[in-house]
Amino acid sequence: MKITQSPSSRIGEIDFDKLVFGTQFTDHMLVCTYRNGKWEEPEIKPYGPMMFSPSMHTLHYGQALFEGLKAYYMDNGAIGIFRPDMNAKRLNHSARRMFMPEFPEDMFVEGVTQLVEIDKAWVPKKSGHSLYLRPFMFGSSEFVAARPSEEFIFCIIMSPVGPYYAGDVKVKVEETYTRSATGGVGSTKCAGNYGGAFFATDQAKKEGYTQVIWTDHKNHELIEESGTMNVGFVIDDTFITPPLSDRILAGITRDSILSLLRSSDIVAKVEERPIKVEEVVAAAKEGRLKEAFGMGTAAVISQISVIGFRGTDYSISTPPDGYAMKIKKALNDIRMGTAEDKNNWMVTL
Ligand code: COI
Repeated sequence: MKITQSPSSRIGEIDFDKLVFGTQFTDHMLVCTYRNGKWEEPEIKPYGPMMFSPSMHTLHYGQALFEGLKAYYMDNGAIGIFRPDMNAKRLNHSARRMFMPEFPEDMFVEGVTQLVEIDKAWVPKKSGHSLYLRPFMFGSSEFVAARPSEEFIFCIIMSPVGPYYAGDVKVKVEETYTRSATGGVGSTKCAGNYGGAFFATDQAKKEGYTQVIWTDHKNHELIEESGTMNVGFVIDDTFITPPLSDRILAGITRDSILSLLRSSDIVAKVEERPIKVEEVVAAAKEGRLKEAFGMGTAAVISQISVIGFRGTDYSISTPPDGYAMKIKKALNDIRMGTAEDKNNWMVTL
């Protein structure tokens, strides 16, 4: 891997006590070009603007996808990256569906590791803070013919981050707009899945909510995701989350939480099964909906305090020592190195 060091660092400009998610970037980035049917040698170089022609493919046809993962400053002073192999696999799942070239998984993990190593001073030390890595890939051919791009750029940039949401979130059950449909691209992290969600989210925000709960495209009966996150409910003593499908993103936080719940006694039962809006609303009315939360890389776990459905707001408790916070702590302990990493999730530098 070619490495060009930045002649100076911008780290002195960063107020690590006032980080705003994804707005400030470290000194270096990784760039790799796909040309003539193969990936060229990746390069780590100073973070900075890229030059493109207005005919660049991705601007017109959106063959673009991204990933998100985090590096942590651990209790013993080591730096650990959480499950980068899973991101490499998911990137390639997205790439296949978006008709883009797969990026070699070992090169992905190696690139991530080397980039974090070179900018390791940027990993925030404060609890609940981390270095967010944003790998992404886009079609970079310069033509507007509506056929697949032939050249692609894979890039990783990194941003020191604090908590994603300021507190708990209020969600509205979305029954008009749809995030994904069977046979579509909902299980990928393609850019359009996020761009396509902004309008519905803005409508919900105007009604006083933070995010939407996405429901199925056919009847809007089944709960699918919450905002940019997977969603889970604790009803009585059971954790329930919708099963993966081609409409739902295979969240790495979701997977990690399921694994932790199955090997602990935080909840009595764990179920991955379709869950209807009416089941959640009935449980809320009967006082059996103990907690609800979103699960994602950016926010980790985000407690849901209100679910709005057809004009009625159902309040849900967000106890500081409840299920969501116990799960968050269990995950955090692994990330900090204060609990045993039984599944070898941390890649330490
Ligand atoms: C998530 O963690 O929920 C994400 O997908 C990242 C977000 C910034 C789009």
